[in-house]
Amino acid sequence: MELAVVGGGHVGLVTAACLAELGHRVRVQDVDGGRVERLSAGELPFHEPGLKELTVRGHRAGRLSFHTDAEVALKRATAAFLCVPTPNNGGGRVDVSSLMAATRAVARYAPPDCLVVNRSTAPMGTARLIASVVCEQRGAPLPVAVNPEFLAEGTAVRDFLAPDRLVVGVWEEAHAQVLRRIYKPILRRDLPPHLVRDLGEVPTGDVPFVVTSPPTAELIKYAANAFLAVRVSFINEIARIAEELGGDVYEVAQGIGLDHRIGPHFLHAGIGWGGSCFPKDIVALEGMARTRGLEARILRAANEVNAEQRRWVARKLRTHLGTLAGRRVALLGLAYKPGTDDLRDAPSVEIATELARLSVRLQAYDPMVKDLPAELEGVVEMSSDPLDAARGADAVVIVTEWAEFAQLDLAELRSVMSVPLVLDGRNLLDPVAARAAGLTYVGVGRPAFVDIPEGRWDTTSADGPGGDL
Ligand code: UGA
Repeated sequence: MELAVVGGGHVGLVTAACLAELGHRVRVQDVDGGRVERLSAGELPFHEPGLKELTVRGHRAGRLSFHTDAEVALKRATAAFLCVPTPNNGGGRVDVSSLMAATRAVARYAPPDCLVVNRSTAPMGTARLIASVVCEQRGAPLPVAVNPEFLAEGTAVRDFLAPDRLVVGVWEEAHAQVLRRIYKPILRRDLPPHLVRDLGEVPTGDVPFVVTSPPTAELIKYAANAFLAVRVSFINEIARIAEELGGDVYEVAQGIGLDHRIGPHFLHAGIGWGGSCFPKDIVALEGMARTRGLEARILRAANEVNAEQRRWVARKLRTHLGTLAGRRVALLGLAYKPGTDDLRDAPSVEIATELARLSVRLQAYDPMVKDLPAELEGVVEMSSDPLDAARGADAVVIVTEWAEFAQLDLAELRSVMSVPLVLDGRNLLDPVAARAAGLTYVGVGRPAFVDIPEGRWDTTSADGPGGDL
C-alpha cells in the first residue's frame, strides 16, 4: 500500500522503516531539510538497534523515501501517519501545534479517503480536533483514526514488529479495517523469515487488535505509560521502606513478581524513571485531570516518589562520605536507560547538577553519550572508559545499567579508587562479589548485610541462603 508518515523522529522513522519492510511503499515527510538529506544518505539522527539496517534496505529497494515536500509525500497515500512531537508547555498542558501543522498538510495534499492516523501521544479529544481541522482546511472530511505507539527506546523495532497488542480508535469499523490490512503480517505474526530470525523468540498466536473509540485509544496510551511509571515508583517506595526497616527489594520484586496477577516487569528499583515519555505523559495526564477539577493523586504521588528517588545518590554520598565539597565522584552511565544515547529528562542530569551544586567534582563515562547537554557542560568531565572515570574517585555511582558495567573487574576498580565506595543506583552488580573485592557496596533498597540470627544458617553450606554477608 502507498503510505505517508509525517515526522521523521523516533516514532516516525521506526513506523516508516518497519512498514516499508513489510512491503508497503512509504514516504516520510519532515520539515527539517538537513534531516531529510541525512536520512536519504542512510544516516540516522539517533541510535536505535536494527533501525539503520531497515532504513537503508527500504531506501535502496525504493520502498522508503524522505521528503520535505508534503505534497510529494502525501498525494498518493492510502493512509497518513502523524508522528510528531507533542511536548508539554507550562502547567502540564500538551502543545499540539506541530500536530495541527501536520494535520493541515495532510488536509491539503492527501487524496480523497486517505485515512489520517494519529500516532502522536495527545489528549483525549485530539482526534476530534484533527477531524475538524481537516474539514476546515479542506472543505471536506477525511477519515481519522488513533493508533498509539508503544515503542520503547532500544527495543522499538521489535516492539513494532512483535507487539503485545495493536490499539486502534475509530468512529467507523471500516477505518479499522484499513489499519488491519496495513498491519496484517504483524497481526498474523506472519513476518518475512529474515525478520523472524532477527527478532528471535516472539510470542505465538494472533496479536490482539483492540478497536475502541478515539478518546479511549488516546487514554489507553496515557494510562499505559502512567501505569508503568506508577509501578516503578511503587517498587522504589518499597525500596525506601526496605532501606529503613529491613528487607531486600531485589528479592521482594522477585517474590511478588511471581504472582501472575502482578508479573515481573517494571519492578526494578533504582534512582528513578526518566526519558522523553514517562515524565511528560504522567504530568500531562495529571494536568488534563486538573482541568476538570480532578486531583490525580496516584499520578502526583508517583512523580513525587520519583523526584525523591533522584536524590538517593546525594543522600547516600552524605551518609558515607560526610561533607561532599571537593570530593571526586565518578558517574558510570548518563543515558536515561541502556541501549540509547538519550539524555532527555535523564536522572543523571538532575543528579549531576545537584552534586555540582554541592561542589562535588564529577567525572563520567557512558558508552554511547558523546555530546553533553548544555546544562552539563563544564559540570561533568567525560572519560574514555569506566576505570579512567573511577581513578582517584571517592565514590563510583552506577547511574545507567549498561551491561559492560556488570563485567567490570571489581578488584581493579577498587585499586584505582581513592575511597572504595560504590553506589549502585541500578542494582546491577552482585553485592557479594563487590564486597569480596573490597568495595563498600550500597544498592537501592538492599541491606548492607543479611539479617540472619547467628548460628541459624550455615552460610557456607548449600542449604543456607548463602551469600550476602
Ligand atoms: C516508554 C514505554 O515503555 C513505551 O511503551 C512507550 O511507547 C514510550 O515510553 C513512549 O511513550 O513513547 P521508554 O521511555 O523508551 O518507553 O523507556 P522504558 O523502558 O519504558 O523506561 C522508562 C524509564 O523507567 C527509564 O528511565 C527506566 O530506567 C525506568 N525503569 C523501567 C525503571 O527504573 N525500572 C523498571 O523496572 C523499568
